[in-house]
Amino acid sequence: MVAYAGRTVQLRRCEIAGSRSGGALAASGALAASIEFAESFVPEDAVLATARSRAAEVGCVPIGPGGGATLRMLAATLGARSVVELGTGTGVSGVWLLRGMRPDGVLTSIDVESEHQRLARQSFVEAGFASSRFRLINGRALDVLPRLADASYDLVLVDADKTEYSDYLTAALRLLRPGGVVAMDNALWSGRVADPAARDPESVALREVAKLVRDHDELVPALLPVGDGLLVAVKQA
Ligand SMILES: C[S@@+](CC[C@H](N)C(=O)[O-])C[C@H]1O[C@@H](n2cnc3c(N)ncnc32)[C@H](O)[C@@H]1O
Repeated sequence: MVAYAGRTVQLRRCEIAGSRSGGALAASGALAASIEFAESFVPEDAVLATARSRAAEVGCVPIGPGGGATLRMLAATLGARSVVELGTGTGVSGVWLLRGMRPDGVLTSIDVESEHQRLARQSFVEAGFASSRFRLINGRALDVLPRLADASYDLVLVDADKTEYSDYLTAALRLLRPGGVVAMDNALWSGRVADPAARDPESVALREVAKLVRDHDELVPALLPVGDGLLVAVKQA
């Protein structure tokens, strides 16, 4: 494992081979440097830095900068007008998403903690978004999701209760238009998903949902080793 951006990640197979041949320090140093470079490749501005410090104050872990940049790129690629986010937090992922969406796009974001959403609202306003661009719904994701319309969304970001990810996937498949994308953060869970000995409920649930996404007939998946792992899949048209 190597540490970066406050997390630890498992070494790739080639890095482990490097350590067997005596090059462990150089290999892990090179991997850490590459990850650091990739994570900071698209820099964050003062608005995102403030949203991150609010997250630290309330004890919520936002998506990393590399994941945020990936979300913005996906939203722009999709020409996203309608996005659903499960787990608003203090608005780090929301700011990235809104910055990639069309200028008339609306982000619907659900969180069980009203205080987190109050802070996210501040982040969105500071980023210059009119209140018509975001809809914050307070409540448990699984209670709120049935109120959202079928096949109406371009992108669904999943970043709430890890043990409920499989249920969120079922909801996302209903909500997404053909060609829409589901993205799930924390898909690697600091190396625990890849470790079969890790049997805590979150690791088990994340492993299960990864398999469901990978094997689903309607989905074209990829597991991106960005940040803490971003599992993405396109719903086939
Ligand atoms: C990891 S944080 C989200 C971070 C945010 N996506 C970001 O990157 O800025 C997880 C959020 O999910 C919320 N949450 C946890 N369980 C939930 C549930 N069952 N329904 C809705 N929100 C939930 C927490 O209150 C927390 O704000």
